[in-house]
Amino acid sequence: MSVIKMADLDLTDKKVLIRQDLNVPLKSGVVADGTRILASLPTIKLALEKGAKVMVMSHLGRPTEGEYEHKYSLAPVANYLSALLEQPVRLEQNWLEPDFIPVERGEVVICENVRFNVGEKANDDALARRMAQMCDVYVMDAFGTAHRAQASTHGIAKYAPIACAGPLLAAELEALSKALDKPARPMVAIVGGSKVSTKLTVLESLSEKVDQLIVGGGIANTFIAAAGFNVGKSLYEEDLLDTCRRLTEDAKRRGADIPVPIDVVCGKHFAENAEAELKSVDKVADDDMIFDIGPKSAAQLAEILKNAGTIVWNGPLGVFEFSQFSEGTKEIAMAIAESNAFSIAGGGDTLAAVSKFKVCDDVSYISTGGGAFLEFLEGKKLPAVEILEQRAAQQS
Ligand code: 3PG
Ligand code: MG
Repeated sequence: MSVIKMADLDLTDKKVLIRQDLNVPLKSGVVADGTRILASLPTIKLALEKGAKVMVMSHLGRPTEGEYEHKYSLAPVANYLSALLEQPVRLEQNWLEPDFIPVERGEVVICENVRFNVGEKANDDALARRMAQMCDVYVMDAFGTAHRAQASTHGIAKYAPIACAGPLLAAELEALSKALDKPARPMVAIVGGSKVSTKLTVLESLSEKVDQLIVGGGIANTFIAAAGFNVGKSLYEEDLLDTCRRLTEDAKRRGADIPVPIDVVCGKHFAENAEAELKSVDKVADDDMIFDIGPKSAAQLAEILKNAGTIVWNGPLGVFEFSQFSEGTKEIAMAIAESNAFSIAGGGDTLAAVSKFKVCDDVSYISTGGGAFLEFLEGKKLPAVEILEQRAAQQS
């Protein structure tokens, strides 16, 4: 099914309400990482170029509905955006009031945090209708929030005169579909992070699609334990050992594989100054904690990545924040950068690794989604996309 795209619409003098994901980290009231704002900028610029009256809405954090709290204000985002656009960006507090003054053509207005509104989270119908009344065209561009069925991401799309996908959302869907629907083979997925349990559905769904599944971090520890090795005091999930064995056996039956590291880097405690010790995977001691993969394992994985046609990456391979345990993740980042594969990276930690190892320009597509990226990989329908598809079907 397809969606209507903002890029295809005439927006001259139209009131255009764009839902973006401007949920960015702040530090002392200033934007600490503007990646999501930068990714959203072309959409705002395109709407301006098309002669629209631009209203932007977003959430920031998870405030209590009905209570204004300064730390959740979008004011720092408005300032950041204003500097990028080189024009004033007005922050509207009471944008749902009946006397809300429509924005002029060429102007950009930011509506204060959508999550201050009672009913946003519950996708309240009355709230969604009020939002829809504000505009001629509703643009859903918040890929990072597309897995939430809330008033500003879902309900409004039912009632706005026109509901369409913005360029960022469209680009995300296109890139992810390219990687998942008709992937160039071999397809390799890297799933790292601390727990098998939180990524089980992703592991299950990807293990059916890919030719090689690379696991990292605490997830890999559980696979190492499932293969019969001692993992000492490492983070792992004992109740998921059978699940890991099943995933590995299923993969092997399909001619695929989930390789277990041959060597690992251990520490005795979790700290920035912890001493790193390289060990063969069968030599882990009872008081060891595995914090990274070793060079032999990294080289083996790099070889797999070198020959891949498609790479999907979510989650680091080790504690890459500490330099003595960062080599594994770095090697993988470099291998992805050097590979000719179509590569996609997503999720907060992964993007931090991508930027730490300076491979931003060498990954084919960097997703702005965290939870939404994972749900897409799981094969779930994103509710905010589904409603746009339904509207498109009705309007055609
Ligand atoms: C995110 O940062 O993951 C998105 O902005 C969604 O935020 P949420 O998890 O609070 O819905
Ligand atoms: Mg989240």
